[in-house]
Amino acid sequence: MNPRLDAIFKATRELFELPEGLVYLDGNSLGPLPKASREHVRHVIDEQWSSQLIKGWNDSGWIDLPQKVGDKIAKLVGAPAGSVIATDSTSVNLFKVLSAALEMQAHHTAQNPESAARRVVLSDTGNFPNDLYVAQGLLRALGDGPHGDGYELRMVEPEEVADAIDETVAVLMLTQTDYRTGRLHDMADLTRRAHEVGVLTVWDLAHSAGALPVHLDVSGADFAIGCGYKYLNGGPGAPAFVYVRPEHAAKARPALVGWMGHETPFAFDLDYRPAPTTDRMLVGTPPILAMASLDAALDVWDGVDLADVRERSIELSELFIAEVETLCPELELASPRDPQARASQVSFRFPEGYAVMQALIARDVIGDFRAPDMMRFGFTPLYLTPEEVVRAARVLETVLRDKLWDSPEYKRKSKVT
Ligand SMILES: Cc1ncc(COP(=O)(O)O)c(C=O)c1O
Repeated sequence: MNPRLDAIFKATRELFELPEGLVYLDGNSLGPLPKASREHVRHVIDEQWSSQLIKGWNDSGWIDLPQKVGDKIAKLVGAPAGSVIATDSTSVNLFKVLSAALEMQAHHTAQNPESAARRVVLSDTGNFPNDLYVAQGLLRALGDGPHGDGYELRMVEPEEVADAIDETVAVLMLTQTDYRTGRLHDMADLTRRAHEVGVLTVWDLAHSAGALPVHLDVSGADFAIGCGYKYLNGGPGAPAFVYVRPEHAAKARPALVGWMGHETPFAFDLDYRPAPTTDRMLVGTPPILAMASLDAALDVWDGVDLADVRERSIELSELFIAEVETLCPELELASPRDPQARASQVSFRFPEGYAVMQALIARDVIGDFRAPDMMRFGFTPLYLTPEEVVRAARVLETVLRDKLWDSPEYKRKSKVT
């Protein structure tokens, strides 16, 4: 462990509320409560909403929160100010950017009659299934299917993506970090390959933003989306974010639009005219209490260098792998062994992984489970210590050695796993 980082992360841990004695290895699913979020949400309720009422939109700047919060996120994902907006959910933002990218490609084909129409959205089988559902829904609305010249969602294995990029593809739609194993796609390399043959890229950064340095600008990515409630600690169901490469901002036209993305929302024109900026990715009224929580949570990152977060995250995950492989030989590492090839989570396979995870949770070590057999553990240096990582491995050893998981109460599947 790099001792220089100890003091940095001792200080950031103080910024979170965490139950005493709990080892929280699930910040990749839902970040814990930042103390500042509790205070700020209270402040917005007690000092703004209660007394200002509707005036709060102007007097407390509620109306500008999507941009203000977006700018804070931009710093964490290597994007220029004004290119990121906090809004809606990741799923809804995916629908918007994918539809915008497809329309840009259709427009390009219409302007260049010599080029063949691009009808393929290329993705991989490691993508978060939700993203594939969103794409399927959109393509159906656009007219997909086996007949005619409709759109197609083409899925290949993650290792085959680079070779599958060709001139038939309109959009490359990928999640940078595999939600099951933490395996990373090379965003810069795949984006470069895509651009070489005229393909636009959409990157889902749900498990990347706040987990490791992300370089949206440098990588050339066209569009990106991500979650506010995982490594950004915005709270359950926090607003998500959407990135539009600045050169596309005035061209991208999402299929889902609304008055907040209008050039002049309060002119109440009968016709939609998109704002000339990334603001056009807004649809409806922002959820101010949820936005306030995310806004304050992002201040935790003030003065934190993501290179330090990455270094400590690798130290913690390497420590965990070493401990678990020594203490629990029956578990199979599902994540890439090379720390540079994975983001900030580690997964182990075990046929009874669900029951093992429930037994762990009952003993105050919280991770989660992904079907069919994957136990996931997230590493979040802002509030996780090396001692806790060692403790988690020891509890896991006990649960396995004494078969503590082998009990009906741990095998009953809850709605959320
Ligand atoms: C990679 C990825 N994309 C998208 C989503 C969906 O996010 P939401 O349900 O907030 O729209 C998730 C949620 O866990 C995710 O992990």
